[in-house]
Amino acid sequence: TYRVEFVKSGVTVDCPADQTVLEAAYAAGLKPPASCTQGMCGTCKQTMLSGEVDMQHNGGIRPREIAQNKVLICCSKPRSDLRIDV
Ligand code: FES
Repeated sequence: TYRVEFVKSGVTVDCPADQTVLEAAYAAGLKPPASCTQGMCGTCKQTMLSGEVDMQHNGGIRPREIAQNKVLICCSKPRSDLRIDV
């Protein structure tokens, strides 16, 4: 279990390694935008301010965006404590 801080919202929650960041956001009562929840549409793209995720996407994000610390939170599971700009 890792700690996920939603920085803009001022909320920190526990997120098990097998739970997505989107699920953690929902568990925290947040409603960040999402649509396909399968890593395809890009709707859930957010900025990761720090940390590491295992992102199993399906083409909804470009390598250049990944290089800029963007993540699709619907298909990203924590691999460290995270700070997300949500
Ligand atoms: Fe579609 Fe995450 S909701 S890529």
